[in-house]
Amino acid sequence: MLSARGLGFRFGSITALEAVDVDLWPGEVLAVVGESGSGKTTLLHVLAGRLRPDAGQVWYREPDGPRTEVHAMPLPLLRRLHRSDWGFVEQDPRQALRMDVSAGGNVGERLMAAGARHYGRIRAEAARWLAEVEIDVARIDDRPTTFSGGMLQRLQIARTLVTEPRLVFMDEPTGGLDVSVQARLLDLIRTLVRRLGIAVVLVTHDLAVARLLAARIVVMQRGRVVEDGLTDQVLDDPRHPYTQLLVSSVLAT
Ligand SMILES: Nc1ncnc2c1ncn2[C@@H]1O[C@H](COP(=O)(O)OP(=O)(O)O)[C@@H](O)[C@H]1O
Ligand SMILES: [Mg+2]
Repeated sequence: MLSARGLGFRFGSITALEAVDVDLWPGEVLAVVGESGSGKTTLLHVLAGRLRPDAGQVWYREPDGPRTEVHAMPLPLLRRLHRSDWGFVEQDPRQALRMDVSAGGNVGERLMAAGARHYGRIRAEAARWLAEVEIDVARIDDRPTTFSGGMLQRLQIARTLVTEPRLVFMDEPTGGLDVSVQARLLDLIRTLVRRLGIAVVLVTHDLAVARLLAARIVVMQRGRVVEDGLTDQVLDDPRHPYTQLLVSSVLAT
């Protein structure tokens, strides 16, 4: 459903992406791993149409629809995709949430942006999604300013998934959270993604997160893909020296 060829991107003199190819199938979770600065976030933003690549193309195929080049789409079409069929989960939920709007409002707002109009149904869906992400429905009218980091991330996930997107981009969704909070969140993401059959491009520097969530993995080093394949295969039997280093540094800790 998503396919990229020959992606290049530069920040001034820094090459953030070079000759990157990516393929994503419907319902598949693909992990993008690599150390900090390897180009993971840049790749995610280019795939999602947020950053225009200096080289290469990204194509998206709607179910039974034609293939469209993401960076050649008219802006209204790209916006429509982002409002409903696509989702983007930021590492910092505060970037996606509106902190001065209630928890229910944060979820309902995305439904309204996708075209929902009936207040009662929007509120009922928001309540259902708060429950899905294990936020007490009694908190529906509370502002997220009073929420813990884990709750904020779960709220962002509710807001993203309420439109039942087919494709979700996630940038280190469990980064910056306590380990125990991470485990619960990972479990939740895994359950929801499987149940809804969502395709995910998941950026993480944590190989354990990739192992838990993703069937396939792409390993990046200095803006290039150095290895890709089935997650278990790549992590159990890494071929590229850089992947071997990543795997052994995890084993050593
Ligand atoms: N806004 C920016 N301006 C200049 N350089 C940037 C910017 N964002 C990222 N970079 C650089 O691009 C490279 C890739 O960064 P990034 O995609 O954020 O990597 P990752 O997500 O893997 O940590 C790094 O060298 C980083 O310093
Ligand atoms: Mg990053």
